[in-house]
Amino acid sequence: MEELQSGNKLKIGIVGFGNFGQFLAQRMISQGHKVLAYSRTDYKDVAHTMGVPFFRDADDFCEEHPEVVLLCTSILSTEDVLKLLPVQRLKRNTLFVDVLSVKEFPQKLFLQVLPQEFDVLCTHPMFGPESGKSSWVGLPFVYDKVRIGGGSRLERCDKFLNIFGSEGCRMVEMSCAEHDRYAAGSQFITHTVGRVLGKLALESTPINTKGYETLLGLVENTKGDSFELYYGLFMYNQNATEELERLELAFDSIKKQLFGRLHDVLRQQLFEGVGMKDRKSLPNIVEDAAHKSTDFATAASNVVAHSKATPNRSSKKSGDNNGSS
Ligand SMILES: NC(=O)c1ccc[n+]([C@@H]2O[C@H](COP(=O)([O-])OP(=O)(O)OC[C@H]3O[C@@H](n4cnc5c(N)ncnc54)[C@H](OP(=O)(O)O)[C@@H]3O)[C@@H](O)[C@H]2O)c1
Repeated sequence: MEELQSGNKLKIGIVGFGNFGQFLAQRMISQGHKVLAYSRTDYKDVAHTMGVPFFRDADDFCEEHPEVVLLCTSILSTEDVLKLLPVQRLKRNTLFVDVLSVKEFPQKLFLQVLPQEFDVLCTHPMFGPESGKSSWVGLPFVYDKVRIGGGSRLERCDKFLNIFGSEGCRMVEMSCAEHDRYAAGSQFITHTVGRVLGKLALESTPINTKGYETLLGLVENTKGDSFELYYGLFMYNQNATEELERLELAFDSIKKQLFGRLHDVLRQQLFEGVGMKDRKSLPNIVEDAAHKSTDFATAASNVVAHSKATPNRSSKKSGDNNGSS
C-alpha cells in the first residue's frame, strides 16, 4: 500500500464548489487543511480569495493527488460527475467522501463505480450554510464507514471525521439505509412544509406568536436551498413518496375533523324551527360540502348559500354562527 501523508492535516479535493462546497471549504481551511476545488462553473475568483487552487479541468485536478476527494455536487448530477471523473489519475488509495443529503444512492454508486482500492465514506452534515453559519456545536453529522481499509487508512478516515468532531458536531454513526428512513420522515417533511409555507408568502405581523415565528423561521431556513436539492431528496430517497402521501393524508384528516365539527354546529343551527320536508335535504348538502369538496371555502360557502336560501333557519341566532364563518 502507498504511504499516506503523516500529520493531522489532509489534502482535500472538493468536487462541486457551489454553495455547500464553499461553506465546508471555509471551515477546513480555517483548521489548516489544504483544499483544492474542481467545479463545472468558474469559481476562480472566489476560490482565489479563499486561497483555494481551482481547477476546471478534471485531469489537472486529479493529478494534484488529493488524499480525500469530497463530492459536494447536487444529488441529481452526482452520477454523471463521478462517471466523468478520471479516477485513474488519482492515487490508488484515495478516500472518497460524499455529503449528499440522501445516503443509499451515493453508497451504491460509489461501490459500483469506484475502483476496489479506494476507500469510501458516506456522510451527511445535517446542517447548511444558514443553520451552521456560526457554530457547529451540537449539530448532527451522520456517517457510514462503507469501505475503509485498516491502519493508516482508518486513521485518515478518522482524521477527516475529526474536522466535524473537533467543531463540536454530534457525530452519529449509522447505516445509509437507516439514515434515509429517518431523513424522509424528518428532513424531507421539513423541506416540504417549508416550501408549502413559502408559497403562502407569510409576512411578519405586529402580533406574531412564538409558533408563528417558528413557521417564519422554517420558511427562512429552507428557502435558500435549491429546488434541485429538494427534488433530489424526493427522487433519490425511496421513503420520500410514502412520507409525502402520509403528509397529504394527515392534512385531509385534519380537514375532515374541521368539517365534522362544522356539520354538528350547522345541523344544530339549520334544524332549529325547520319543517320535516326541509330536514331531509339538509344533511345531504352538508355532507356534500364536507366530503366532496377539498376546498374549505367552497364547502363553507355552499352551506352558507343554502342557509340564505332558507332564511327561517338563520335569523334566530345569527350572532352565534361561529362554525360557518
Ligand atoms: N445546502 C445544504 O444545506 C446541504 C446540507 C447538507 C448536504 N448538502 C448536500 O451538498 C450537495 C451540494 O448542495 P448545494 O447546497 O451546494 O446545492 P445543490 O444545488 O444541491 O448542488 C450544487 C452543486 O452541484 C453542482 N452541479 C449541479 N449540477 C451539475 C451538473 N450538471 N454538472 C456538474 N456539477 C453540477 C454545482 O456545480 P457548479 O456550481 O459548478 O455549477 C454545485 O457545486 C448536495 O448533494 C446536497 O444534498 C447540502
